[in-house]
Amino acid sequence: MKLENNLLIVESGSKKNSPVIFVHGFPYDHLMWSKQVEFLQNSHYCISYDIRGLGKSPGGDRQFTMETLVDDLLWIVNEFKLDKPVLCGLSMGGYISLRAVERAQEKLGGLILCDTKSFPDDDTAKLKRANGIKQINIEGLQKFCEATIPNTFADSTLKERKWLYEEILNRAITYDPAGVKGCMLAMLSRTDTTSFLEKIMIPTLIICGEHDKLTPPLVMKDIHNKIKDSELVIIPEAGHMAPVENPEAVNKAISDFLKKRLA
Ligand code: MLT
Repeated sequence: MKLENNLLIVESGSKKNSPVIFVHGFPYDHLMWSKQVEFLQNSHYCISYDIRGLGKSPGGDRQFTMETLVDDLLWIVNEFKLDKPVLCGLSMGGYISLRAVERAQEKLGGLILCDTKSFPDDDTAKLKRANGIKQINIEGLQKFCEATIPNTFADSTLKERKWLYEEILNRAITYDPAGVKGCMLAMLSRTDTTSFLEKIMIPTLIICGEHDKLTPPLVMKDIHNKIKDSELVIIPEAGHMAPVENPEAVNKAISDFLKKRLA
């Protein structure tokens, strides 16, 4: 675990193996990928990191855009001399990964999109972000996290395995509120990557929790239809946080994809 370029970066597995970079969602940190890294580290060189402003990565002056977050990801690819890494991004991590593919597809070997979308915030979503920022300013980060994070889990997970939600919540409330707001502004102002989907030529796996309320299976099916060389796996008993809610099914989907398409 090291802090480089103001990013907390964790390397797991041998550098001799093919690289996979895990890009987490919002408002989480690299630990949301723990079960996937644990599972893949014997066969792959796994890199996970905390996105600028979240987890233990400082937000600098907190004036950043989606492009800065993509610069950070591409910096990791260059700095660690990764040969055609596979990007695996969930939700905001998917926004970052899709834009990274749009900017530098030739440097990448494959793409795994989990519970994400290609279209940008519409006015309703922008106003929701503005309200979220206001809520953090007035009531604090904890209230914001308590209001938003439950939506990222399936109802059954919240009812039967509430500790999964509590673990995520307890970490999120420790983040730097200004860094969290910085990420919201970066998402609010991100570009639309939809028209690029048909130009994606690298093998792509699309994963979606069957009960995802934020980026439901229909949204991800549309991405699958637009990316020529893609496959879609729906994860049972999971919402937006599929890798945390049903790690076994997500691990199987990822390892089947890596074996079949990128061995
Ligand atoms: C995420 O899980 O990263 C968020 O739902 C993304 C967003 O707020 O658009």
